[in-house]
Amino acid sequence: MVTSSFPTFVAVFALITLQVGTEDSFIAAVYEHAVILPNRTKTPVSQEDALNLMNKNIDILERAIKQAAEQGARIIVTPEDALYGWEFTRETIFPYLEDIPDPQVNWIPCQDSHRFGHTPVQARLSCLAKNNSIYVLANLGDKKPCNSRHSTCPPNGYFQYNTNVVYNPEGKLVARYHKYHLYSEPQFDVPEKPELVTFNTTFGRFGIFTCFDILFYDPAVTLVKDFHVDTILFPTAWMNVLPLLTAIEFHSAWAMGMGVNLLAANIHRVSLNMTGSGIYTPNGSKVYHYDMKTESGKLLLSDVDSHPLSSLAPPTAVNWSAYATTIKPFPVQKSTFRGFISRDGFNFTELFENAGNLTVCQKELCCHLSYRMLQKEANEVYVLGAFTGLHGRRRREYWQVCTMLKCKTTNLTTCGQPVETASTRFEMFSLSGTFGTKYVFPEVLLTEIHLSPGKFENSFSSRNCPKVGLNIHLMKLLHPWEKDKKC
Ligand SMILES: *[C@@H]1O[C@H](CO)[C@@H](O)[C@H](O)[C@H]1NC(C)=O
Ligand SMILES: *[C@@H]1O[C@H](CO)[C@@H](O)[C@H](O)[C@H]1NC(C)=O
Ligand SMILES: *[C@@H]1O[C@H](CO)[C@@H](O)[C@H](O)[C@H]1NC(C)=O
Ligand SMILES: *[C@@H]1O[C@H](CO)[C@@H](O)[C@H](O)[C@H]1NC(C)=O
Ligand SMILES: *[C@@H]1O[C@H](CO)[C@@H](O)[C@H](O)[C@H]1NC(C)=O
Ligand SMILES: *[C@@H]1O[C@H](CO)[C@@H](O)[C@H](O)[C@H]1NC(C)=O
Ligand SMILES: *[C@@H]1O[C@H](CO)[C@@H](O)[C@H](O)[C@H]1NC(C)=O
Ligand SMILES: *[C@@H]1O[C@H](CO)[C@@H](O)[C@H](O)[C@H]1NC(C)=O
Ligand SMILES: *[C@@H]1O[C@H](CO)[C@@H](O)[C@H](O)[C@H]1NC(C)=O
Repeated sequence: MVTSSFPTFVAVFALITLQVGTEDSFIAAVYEHAVILPNRTKTPVSQEDALNLMNKNIDILERAIKQAAEQGARIIVTPEDALYGWEFTRETIFPYLEDIPDPQVNWIPCQDSHRFGHTPVQARLSCLAKNNSIYVLANLGDKKPCNSRHSTCPPNGYFQYNTNVVYNPEGKLVARYHKYHLYSEPQFDVPEKPELVTFNTTFGRFGIFTCFDILFYDPAVTLVKDFHVDTILFPTAWMNVLPLLTAIEFHSAWAMGMGVNLLAANIHRVSLNMTGSGIYTPNGSKVYHYDMKTESGKLLLSDVDSHPLSSLAPPTAVNWSAYATTIKPFPVQKSTFRGFISRDGFNFTELFENAGNLTVCQKELCCHLSYRMLQKEANEVYVLGAFTGLHGRRRREYWQVCTMLKCKTTNLTTCGQPVETASTRFEMFSLSGTFGTKYVFPEVLLTEIHLSPGKFENSFSSRNCPKVGLNIHLMKLLHPWEKDKKC
């Protein structure tokens, strides 16, 4: 229902001006950081070497923070693992960790750096926030001593957490979040339960989670649904996977599907397909960065609404399933065939004509597509696909996906393989699905890994503005609270 939902979106946005807030908008910043990795991660280094490396990375973040503040940014998000990278064991990460207290202790590390032991990284980050009068989110490692007689306490006597901290413009620690959904991170422990971390500012309420957390219900959906946050701060170290899980396409879709701002800061490392940061709103992306050509970091800034959806109960009031069930299914194609995206078995049907109405189903999920191409390139094949089931190798997340995508070649066995370019132009399309949830994330990815500018309404229902298609998905996470997986 990508096109047909827009009247609802428009109605929703019309109410925004009624919101009474101290500040209606603010400038946000995210920094995509090309992290300097340690030379050695398989054997432990000294605490001094660890600090030296982290300081080299913070030197770079410092320049970004200063620049952002000079341009009026009120808050900046830096990426996950930005101080030391990711390839560690429990033992080799240890010299990088600091004990990070609960924000309730009311602490300005910049002014009182020895109050909680040896915490040079926290002191420096706090000073960066204070000296530049800006909220700073950084990701570092927390160590928490535990009683080794306790059965859950690790053998070294410490829990080790992948942690986000936020300092306010006075340098005070105002938020601490321990990542819950670890991917392949043997160096870190999973906290006892998902933490729901928020903080209030004069420019809206903020929530925090990290990378892989975005694919699960808790804490991500709960922060929006029950805590009514306006903006999510999202540090990540995200490896792009086409066609469904490239950073910019999924993160922008999440913001749109959940009706919040999402400030996403990714690591920049081309050799690992890590790039893709952005400032996303329920209305589309404000600014994003995807760069597989250079090795440089990148600062992004944009003005965003403090209360993007105002008093309306998030997520946006679109009932995809109700809409899709009003569509009289188009005749199910006889030519439906089976194919794969990664390891997930899809039912696909080909878009033979220049325009048409198609339905493809898999079990209870039916996907309906109406489309009109301006010019169909003879060497390009598009298919409509449906998938419902457990996703991926570990088969722990339940997904439902409706997708229209370009196959890699004209051989239908290549449908679902990564594709980066397309030249077929779509004059319009409308895609809907009988999803079993209201948490639906509408992804649209155009040729050469570009996002659709602005809302889909502008881009896809307009005859004047044809788009070059690549991948168009509606994707939903049904039971996203299972543990274990990665970006
Ligand atoms: C890694 O080793 C090289 C060569 O010894 C050195 O120049 C470089 O500074 C080291 N990098 C780090 C992060 O320590
Ligand atoms: C912050 O400012 C103080 C005083 O101006 C200075 O001593 C300190 O080095 C600065 N720290 C950082 C991290 O910029
Ligand atoms: C933020 O403000 C709201 C009320 O406006 C309050 O319910 C909530 O507890 C506050 N959150 C924090 C973390 O202070
Ligand atoms: C990066 O992506 C490309 C194309 O999608 C893929 O072939 C390659 O294996 C990926 N590289 C890594 C390190 O995952
Ligand atoms: C959404 O975008 C439209 C135009 O593209 C604009 O008129 C509207 O104010 C935007 N709404 C929000 C909440 O940004
Ligand atoms: C959406 O609509 C369907 C069908 O009308 C209904 O069964 C379902 O309860 C609705 N879902 C929500 C979240 O309102
Ligand atoms: C569609 O998917 C279902 C479930 O995987 C399968 O049983 C059915 O045979 C598929 N249809 C076609 C035409 O491949
Ligand atoms: C698709 O369906 C719509 C109405 O549901 C109809 O107006 C349109 O002509 C159909 N398009 C094609 C190509 O069959
Ligand atoms: C399509 O690719 C498959 C698998 O590579 C191959 O077996 C088949 O012969 C190809 N079909 C055509 C028509 O080229």
